[in-house]
Amino acid sequence: MKSRIDQVIKRVQAEYLDTLLPSRDPLLAGMEAFAAAHGHPIADPEVGQLMRVLVRAKQPKHLIEVGTNIGYSVIVLGRECPADAVIETIELDRVILANAQRFVGEAHLTCEVKFHQGAALEVLPTLAGPFDFVFIDCVKTEYEQYLDQLLPKLAPGAMIVCDNLLWGGKVAEDVHDPSTDALRAFNERIASDPRLTTIVLAAGDGVGISIVN
Ligand SMILES: C[S@@+](CC[C@H](N)C(=O)[O-])C[C@H]1O[C@@H](n2cnc3c(N)ncnc32)[C@H](O)[C@@H]1O
Repeated sequence: MKSRIDQVIKRVQAEYLDTLLPSRDPLLAGMEAFAAAHGHPIADPEVGQLMRVLVRAKQPKHLIEVGTNIGYSVIVLGRECPADAVIETIELDRVILANAQRFVGEAHLTCEVKFHQGAALEVLPTLAGPFDFVFIDCVKTEYEQYLDQLLPKLAPGAMIVCDNLLWGGKVAEDVHDPSTDALRAFNERIASDPRLTTIVLAAGDGVGISIVN
């Protein structure tokens, strides 16, 4: 147990933890460079590694991702889930989605990937569950609505991973803007909803892991 609440994550700790991350293969490394060059907000490498561990352990068969971007996290998930798994992923922007389809094609995943173009809040009600793994990484003010739309499609034991829950540190500070306020409320929701067992970790930009009870 920590003796002080700020004992763990300081810059020096974060830099040290970075040295423990495995290097990425040329495809993911190239996508990280592409994302940096074009301002695409893909998951941090440590969040990718966390999801690798979670998916390797859980072996989900029907995954749903809210927020595809260029497909970085699809490839991370798709390399760890079973060959007969299906990943469904939603992206609003047609051009970005085309890039995702190209990159995911290059990954030659064994599982199936279903790409959905549209606004997540309009696409989610059209998708049939049950899902056993959820990755929420989209519009911050909509996280709670994604959760509410998805919960009826999740069986006990389903895992929900949510990115950006610390939002650059702002949710823990006296900062108020729509995204920060929404994420603060969302954290309180997932931490207290009796249908969920949740931990929020200071990995990357803050990651929530919830299990449906
Ligand atoms: C944080 S990025 C996703 C990153 C991706 N999960 C990864 O780690 O590689 C969020 C994506 O959601 C898309 N987006 C924004 N608003 C959306 C909406 N209403 N519905 C669906 N996608 C949306 C953005 O275009 C962006 O590509």
